[in-house]
Amino acid sequence: MKNLDRQFIDNLLSNIDVVDLIGQKVSLKKFGNNYKGLCPFHAENTPSFNVSSSKQFYHCFGCGASGDAISFLKNYEGLTFYESIEKLAKIANIEIPTSATNKNFDNKNLININKIAADFFQKNLQNNNKAKEYLLSRKITDDIIKNFNLGCANDSWDELTKEANKKNIIKDALEAGLLVKNKDKIYDRFRNRIIFPIKDVQEKIVAFGGRTLEKSESAKYINSPESKVFFKSSQLYGLFQAKNSITKNNKVIIVEGYTDVLSLHKNGFNNSIATLGTAFTKLHFNKILRYTTNIYFCFDGDEAGKKAAWKALTNCLEEIRDGVNVNFIFLPEGKDPDDICSESKNLFQNLIDESIPLSEYLFQVVIKNKKIEKIEDKSKFINESIGLIKQIPNGIFKTLMENKLIETANINKEELYKITPKTNKLRDTKDIDEVKNNEEFYILSILIEYPDLILEYFEKINKLLSNDVTKILLRTLYDMKKQNFTINVSSLIEKFPNEENSINNIFKMKIEDKNKDSVIATIDTIINNFQKKLDENEYFDLLTKYSKGIKLSEEEKNKLKNFKK
Ligand code: UTP
Ligand code: MN
Repeated sequence: MKNLDRQFIDNLLSNIDVVDLIGQKVSLKKFGNNYKGLCPFHAENTPSFNVSSSKQFYHCFGCGASGDAISFLKNYEGLTFYESIEKLAKIANIEIPTSATNKNFDNKNLININKIAADFFQKNLQNNNKAKEYLLSRKITDDIIKNFNLGCANDSWDELTKEANKKNIIKDALEAGLLVKNKDKIYDRFRNRIIFPIKDVQEKIVAFGGRTLEKSESAKYINSPESKVFFKSSQLYGLFQAKNSITKNNKVIIVEGYTDVLSLHKNGFNNSIATLGTAFTKLHFNKILRYTTNIYFCFDGDEAGKKAAWKALTNCLEEIRDGVNVNFIFLPEGKDPDDICSESKNLFQNLIDESIPLSEYLFQVVIKNKKIEKIEDKSKFINESIGLIKQIPNGIFKTLMENKLIETANINKEELYKITPKTNKLRDTKDIDEVKNNEEFYILSILIEYPDLILEYFEKINKLLSNDVTKILLRTLYDMKKQNFTINVSSLIEKFPNEENSINNIFKMKIEDKNKDSVIATIDTIINNFQKKLDENEYFDLLTKYSKGIKLSEEEKNKLKNFKK
């Protein structure tokens, strides 16, 4: 960080022994002049993680992780640069220069209010019989309640509001989304619900999920809104409680819901986590790869579950490097993990053992409803498969997938590429999405290099973005700019320490434009293209409506008439 001078950091590091620091987390054995242990950054059985006392540096020959005490804390505990410094300063008993302290991103207020609210909800649960009975009826044990800090919001509009008022923290509670402001009224967001605190990997509570206790309530689950500490599409429920077991078993089970996580933990599958009611994204994927490369998705056997599985598969293809092992488990229709474990734990273990590897599932889905003997179907099968396989990073896995396609379609390699030359842009929506994503990433790369443009372009760009990741990053850039923070790739990584890989990937993109004017022209062109696409979609939707004989409003008729092709 620019704001802390190098001299201070060097002095701090010279007062820390990296062997001691790492030795508290990783069991190290002396080996010549160095120390050796099992690498905490990837799964392995023989130690290739080296810590050098003389160099005050660690290096893993297996996965390449390396760095000093600061990067160890950043990567192992998921701390930001500044938080790592704070922690080291505490260990070394050195004070951080005050000029540096207030330059930090101040997320503490939200973390504090979330902690206060979590304690409040937990206390509620002790006196709320309805909530206690509900948890009992779902066979959620006291141990689980404690381990996951479950609580409840009573059936009231203002209990938490009153509490926040008393403590003078209404503003923070609003920012954290615990309270809602509508016109001039402020009220509790979570009412009459079981509360699931959502923790990050450092055990900080960043948000809450709430399940209604009322059968007639239409929103079964709600979450805190996104905030500067909560990004839904990268957060995983239960990761804090599961991370040790994930590393130990070298395996993660990803389920659909909060209660699935609880019941699997109760039944000894402590390596289970869930997304927060959103699709599984690349950000999730990269986060998990830090703990294990063996991933088991467990979905319901119904249509929704299959759709979610397919979405997870297509979202992750670009991250499936050699050695990453993704599998799918489908539960019998109408059953959730709890039902299965209640019958027998072995049954669930069997489902894991019999899961379908991604390499099979991909072809199973693509070939479905197609007759490979029929030329029309066969060509469709080949094209669709190629479109997916080409997203996999180059490597042995990709080659084997190509070979399997060649075998299944009974076609030779040259012929395969004659049908679908790699340079030929297929005109399917997937490809258009890809181009659009690249353009979204490109705009962000530009903004990082020319931060002066962020405030001016934020609104215009924000409403046109369709990719979750770019949306989060754009908003973060905007917040950073507004607060006058230094903007560059590393400051962004500091904000999302767990997302280092994906952010680096995005910003690998080289900006072709050489000066500000040409950059502006590029942004404007991309914005125009996005807008044109949106307009076109709207036009064709209206046209379809019209041709089906559906009555159009005056406004819609005008749009149709005035559309410039
Ligand atoms: P499910 O509806 O499958 O949850 O949604 P469930 O575990 O079976 O619910 P119970 O057993 O009735 O309590 C799976 C996940 O989707 C999200 C939540 O994260 C939930 O855990 N979800 C579901 C929502 O965000 N909102 C909803 O209204 C429903
Ligand atoms: Mn359920």
